[in-house]
Amino acid sequence: MATEVNQALADHAQALLDQAGGRGQRAIDQVQADLDQFARLLVHQVRLRKALADPGLPPEPKRALLADLGRPRGVEVVAVPLHAEAGQVVSSTRVRGELAGGDVAAAAASLGRPYAVEGEVVEGDRRGRPLLGVPTANLAAPAGIAIPGDGVYAGHLTDGADGEARPAAISVGTNPQFGTERRVEAHVLDFDGDLYGHRVSVDFHHHLRGQATFPGVDELVAQIRADIDQTRRLLGAG
Ligand SMILES: Cc1cc2nc3c(=O)[nH]c(=O)nc-3n(C[C@H](O)[C@H](O)[C@H](O)COP(=O)(O)O)c2cc1C
Repeated sequence: MATEVNQALADHAQALLDQAGGRGQRAIDQVQADLDQFARLLVHQVRLRKALADPGLPPEPKRALLADLGRPRGVEVVAVPLHAEAGQVVSSTRVRGELAGGDVAAAAASLGRPYAVEGEVVEGDRRGRPLLGVPTANLAAPAGIAIPGDGVYAGHLTDGADGEARPAAISVGTNPQFGTERRVEAHVLDFDGDLYGHRVSVDFHHHLRGQATFPGVDELVAQIRADIDQTRRLLGAG
C-alpha cells in the first residue's frame, strides 16, 4: 500500500510538472494547487502516515517533492530501495505482466504469495451443472482489477462465509466453446454447496493450459475432468 501510494504520488507530481513545463507562473500555481489537493486526499482519506521512496528516484523533483509535501502534514518520507529479483525490480508493472501472460507461478514468486481476485459469486448461464456436470462459481470481479490471462488454472476458492480455502480448477476467459463475455469461474473440488451471493477470493497457483474449443461438449467435459485431476495432483488435494 505504502509503495503504491508513494508511486501514485510521485507519478502524479511528475505528470503535473511535465504538463506545466515552460507554461509560466499560472501553470506552476496550478501544479501546486493540485498537489496540495492530492496530498490532502492522501493524508485525510487514505490516512497516509509514512511514504516509502526509492532512493533510486531522481532526487529532483520527485523525492524532494515527496518530502516537501509530506513534512508539513506529518507524513514521514523514508528511503527504501525497491525489491529486486534476478536483477529486476519487482514492480506492480512486472506482476501485471506476469499475470497477463498467465504465469501465475512467477507472479506468486514476485508477490511472496499467490495472486488472488476477490468478488461476489453471480449467476452464469447455468450451463455448468445441467449440461456439463461441472458446477462453477462465476466471480464478478471489480472493474480495474488485474485478472490472469485467459486460460485454465489450479488454485483455491475461499468462501468469506467460513474462511475455508478449497482447491479449485479455475477457468478465465470467454468460454470459446460457447462464446460469452470474459469470466472467472471456479469449480470447487468435491463441493456441493451453494455459493451464490457469497463474497469469495480465488487464488491462482498453477497455469494448466490455454482456453480451447472442442469438437463437442463431451470432449470439453473430458478435458475439464482432466483439469480437475491435474488440480488435485498439483495441490495435493484428497
Ligand atoms: C477447469 C475448467 C476448464 C474450462 N475450460 C474451458 C475451455 O477450454 N473452453 C471453454 O469454452 N470453456 C471452458 N470452461 C468453461 C465452461 O465452458 C463453463 O464453465 C460452462 O460453460 C458453464 O458456464 P456457466 O457457469 O455460465 O453455466 C472451463 C471450465 C472449467 C471449470
